[in-house]
Amino acid sequence: MTKRPILLPSLLSAPFDRLGETIRSMEQAGAHVFHYDVMDGHFVPNITIGPLIIDSLGDSVNCEFDAHLMVTNPSTQMKWFNKPRVRSVTLHVETSSGDMKKDLQWLKDHGKRAGAAISPPTTLAKLEPILPIVDQVLVMTVYPGFAGQAFLKETLPKIEELAAIRERSGYDFTIQVDGGINRETLRFVHDAGAEEIVSGAAIFDGGDPAGEFIRLNEMMNSWREDHASARSK
Ligand code: DX5
Ligand code: ZN
Repeated sequence: MTKRPILLPSLLSAPFDRLGETIRSMEQAGAHVFHYDVMDGHFVPNITIGPLIIDSLGDSVNCEFDAHLMVTNPSTQMKWFNKPRVRSVTLHVETSSGDMKKDLQWLKDHGKRAGAAISPPTTLAKLEPILPIVDQVLVMTVYPGFAGQAFLKETLPKIEELAAIRERSGYDFTIQVDGGINRETLRFVHDAGAEEIVSGAAIFDGGDPAGEFIRLNEMMNSWREDHASARSK
């Protein structure tokens, strides 16, 4: 059963000089979970933020964070994200040098949703051993590392296949997508079966993040209504 899709703004494209006020205005627009990209300059060339920003926002925000770790040593660094406002932590299968199952279990034992991400060239076969325990699977729709890249259409069959595997096997994970999602590409991932849709540049680069967040949500709502009215005919 497909869950109602939600949109997660990616803070990578947010204005960091006004982060708190930007998050609060997005909360007013209905955003509850913010995607939080952590890059170490090693697994990917770019360097971004660590857990300190979450600490400094403190209780000035009400949201939760979805940490996406693009780091070489996730087994060590995931532990820095064991914080009350962190809802989920996602590790890349390509990085996990240790025991990914053990890492995911550690996150679950600490009350976090445990996520596994795959980059565009990685096949679903790599996920097989962890699908029974993972809470969310992130299918990257761009190569990890930078905001504002063009969506890779060739990743769509992977989303569909993952949804089919879940259906067949009775697993319970959520399907997340990340990269290049905007007014045009939203429909592709929505129809392919994504339930948590991350969007950065499309939301933040146009000058009205809350307005664009609302607009993208309205688009998804209208597709749901179309679908419901088509079914009742
Ligand atoms: C890229 C990051 C994404 C990025 C998505 O490696 O993981 O979360 O912020 O941003 P857009 O929507 O701009 O591609
Ligand atoms: Zn991300």
